[in-house]
Amino acid sequence: MAQTNFHLRIRCTNMKKLILFILVYGLLTELSIAQSNKIVKPGGAVDPYHYTIEKSKVYTYAAVSCAHPLASAIGAEIMKQGGNAYDAAIAMQLALAVVYTNAGNIGGGGFLVTKQSDGKTFTIDYRETAPAKASRDMYLDKSGKAQSDLSLYGHKACGVPGTVAGLFATLPYAVLPFKTLIQPAIDLAENGYVITEREASNLNATRKSFIENSTSPTALVKKNDWKAGDTLVQKELAQTLKRISDKGSKGFYEGKTADRIVAEMKKHDGLISKSDLKNYKAKTRSALEFKYKDYTIISMAPPSSGGIILCQLMKIVETRPIALYGFQTSKSVQLMVEAERRAFADRSVYMGDPDYWKVPLKTLTSDAYIQKRMSDYDSTKATPSNVIKAGNIKESEETTHISIIDKEGNMVSITTTLNNSYGSRTVVSGAGFLLNDEMDDFSVKPGVPNLYGAVGGEANAIQPGKRMLSSMTPTLVLDKDKNPLIVLGTPGGTTIPTSVFQTLINILEFGMNASAAIEKPKFHHQWLPDEIMVEKEFDPEVRKQLQAMGYTVTERGQIGRMEVIRILPDGRREVAADTRGDDSVNGY
Ligand code: DON
Repeated sequence: MAQTNFHLRIRCTNMKKLILFILVYGLLTELSIAQSNKIVKPGGAVDPYHYTIEKSKVYTYAAVSCAHPLASAIGAEIMKQGGNAYDAAIAMQLALAVVYTNAGNIGGGGFLVTKQSDGKTFTIDYRETAPAKASRDMYLDKSGKAQSDLSLYGHKACGVPGTVAGLFATLPYAVLPFKTLIQPAIDLAENGYVITEREASNLNATRKSFIENSTSPTALVKKNDWKAGDTLVQKELAQTLKRISDKGSKGFYEGKTADRIVAEMKKHDGLISKSDLKNYKAKTRSALEFKYKDYTIISMAPPSSGGIILCQLMKIVETRPIALYGFQTSKSVQLMVEAERRAFADRSVYMGDPDYWKVPLKTLTSDAYIQKRMSDYDSTKATPSNVIKAGNIKESEETTHISIIDKEGNMVSITTTLNNSYGSRTVVSGAGFLLNDEMDDFSVKPGVPNLYGAVGGEANAIQPGKRMLSSMTPTLVLDKDKNPLIVLGTPGGTTIPTSVFQTLINILEFGMNASAAIEKPKFHHQWLPDEIMVEKEFDPEVRKQLQAMGYTVTERGQIGRMEVIRILPDGRREVAADTRGDDSVNGY
């Protein structure tokens, strides 16, 4: 069981100063938390100044896993106090908007996939939309060349945020008052929390970009470099959260917050208007459900490509004895890679926002179509991507994932994002939160790759009000009796569906537990570029064998940050958080 304890140390050379500092600091800390916050610190349960990262544990009743230990602790605490998985989902997303500013957000969007304890499944789509003033060629210069910087950084890169609408679309399923769920986030923003080494280094690395892309000083930029153990206080963000607490979704989409977003847009040719904000709607959609052997898999339908890709990948493996091929042998990896290549070719042509583009969902997920896609598969050598096109049909870095299961068995899987790490790097002046750069997920020009190398065409072209195609794949698995088995998901751009695929195969076919399944090195193929990307721990021998079969294999940085809950045969919840980040589990 991987477990990392970390202790934040405050270094001081002068001993007397240190003792005085600790006494005053401790007193102030206790006072401010005790007066202001019942949830964050009921009996010392969640302390923003001292916390532990827990990588894997088994709980009896309820479990959560997400990118930050404070948000996980808040989710568990909410459920201990009578909240259900939906209460935890709301409170954790709001907490992540404060303590995990790379991707936790109120200025971005996401997807929630759920199965209620009574068996009902559905999804909430709160993906960003293109502003009304957006247009198909808005990122092309006069000569027709794509200007990718504009869709990635600054005011023009921002889609209309969906997260706050998503939280309020989730609220009817929760049992506690919204004010109770948002208060921990307000307190964390108001009083601050202690940052980790990783957060300090991320903030320092992005400092220049924050300054370039924001129009007024932000709490995320400090005079000197951030270091582990510093306290990050975000007063303006706290005020914005208070407006949401008092006025509900209007506290974000109308009034002062909306005014500040629009004022920020006007400073640098941004497109989001008051009516874009007022008109934004989260949508409840049916989940994409399919069978894998005796299991039922429940995932996200368009506007994410994730569920369709996952379905195609799982169905290709289903008809072949992958367990016999062995874990990450050249034979099993090659099969998975060839499946991935074909699924991503389909993504580039057929997938987009279903409200603007007819996605041939039925065909793309049908057994007959999927098996036919593998008719030119050769198990001895690579099929070059230039001979693979999308199938023939007659009728489209930094995100974060939250996995939750409660005592009753409500399962919630959420992936939420600003797109790039810290999104557009634009902090709304006077409102203290980051806006997304999700516009880059549109196909800016046919054939021009986005941040994740994905190419697309008409299905995912920019149109006012349209949702940009996503790869996010929040997923649930039920066992043969339709009881909860797995809750999982990850960030990682286009590597998301392939990471979910590999983790599921690790558990369902190679018999791994949750933490073993996510710790294994990952690999990824997305049709274009025609290469297998592998994490550096990937077996060098298998790499050589794949190269001998004609594959280009390139090493890249870490792939994804998985959060997995696996329900054990006795009903207990085994939960694991990825060691690739500060991710942490909690529960009771
Ligand atoms: O929706 C998408 O597919 C992307 N905007 C997700 C971005 C992402 O996962 C970045 N994380 N590393």
